[in-house]
Amino acid sequence: MTITILDEPVLLVRGDDGELRALSNICRHRGTPVADGEGTASTFTCPYHAWSYAVNGELRVAPFTDPATVADCRLPAWPLAVDEHGFVAVAVTDDPAPLPSISVFNTELAPFNTAEMRFCHAETEIWACNWKAMVENFMEGSHLSVVHRDSLHPLTPSRLASKGPSGPEFTSYYSTFPAGVRSTTPGEPALTDEQRGRSFLWQRFPTQVACQNATFCASFLVLPLSIDRTLIRWSVSAFRDCPDEIIDATIDLWREINGEDQAVLERIHHNLVAPSAQDYAGPLADDDREGTIVDFHRYLSAVGH
Ligand code: FES
Ligand SMILES: [Fe+2]
Repeated sequence: MTITILDEPVLLVRGDDGELRALSNICRHRGTPVADGEGTASTFTCPYHAWSYAVNGELRVAPFTDPATVADCRLPAWPLAVDEHGFVAVAVTDDPAPLPSISVFNTELAPFNTAEMRFCHAETEIWACNWKAMVENFMEGSHLSVVHRDSLHPLTPSRLASKGPSGPEFTSYYSTFPAGVRSTTPGEPALTDEQRGRSFLWQRFPTQVACQNATFCASFLVLPLSIDRTLIRWSVSAFRDCPDEIIDATIDLWREINGEDQAVLERIHHNLVAPSAQDYAGPLADDDREGTIVDFHRYLSAVGH
């Protein structure tokens, strides 16, 4: 897949050797992207003058070019790491900070075995809102019964939201199913009834959010493009035994939920940038509903924003 991270065009590719690499998607000849979108390829041939690269980034063909001048040419790779839950991190710097390993967070997420879930579907969208409003909205249970009255309220009503663990690098909450509503599959055998009876919503500061339950992981890649535009690539992965019809219904549900959130976030963006908006800022709801927003703002002030 191709993706632009902080203005750097990146080509994320699994090589013939099984290794994931984050290659530069800038042709070494005169700068054209060597690939677009997502899919499968055995080589990357630049559409401008047909320089051709192997999937590990090595240059194979450079027409009409003295081989001696291209001996050192290849698509360079950015540092890449995969965490214990299967999430991929790419740093567009040669000197990245190590990925934080957050023990409380890992303990909470590990029983769901996210890394072994089956990737099913992804969509990329651009929402006309600020990224902070997007992640705050994702991480609070207060709006579930209002914005999502027909979609989520029957499954995870606001009244059953409760604060989960948090720390300097992350925050979380649980959205619990009402009595009689169960997870669509039992998921990992070692999960407890309590874990099967709710979704675990988490944010690794600043931009990574996801919703995890026994059957699914809905994971959101959030890339701020500007103050009022945010790229969102959301994906659904499923427990290995989950039937296709349940997967399809879940993807439809997430499309509906995301549309409802996008609509409200695009409406409030206009107000949040109003000069007087600060003067009218009111109190937050209780910790179980909106304590995650307090955690996020503690993080933001700790890092100087
Ligand atoms: S820019 Fe890629 S081959 Fe010329
Ligand atoms: Fe929502």
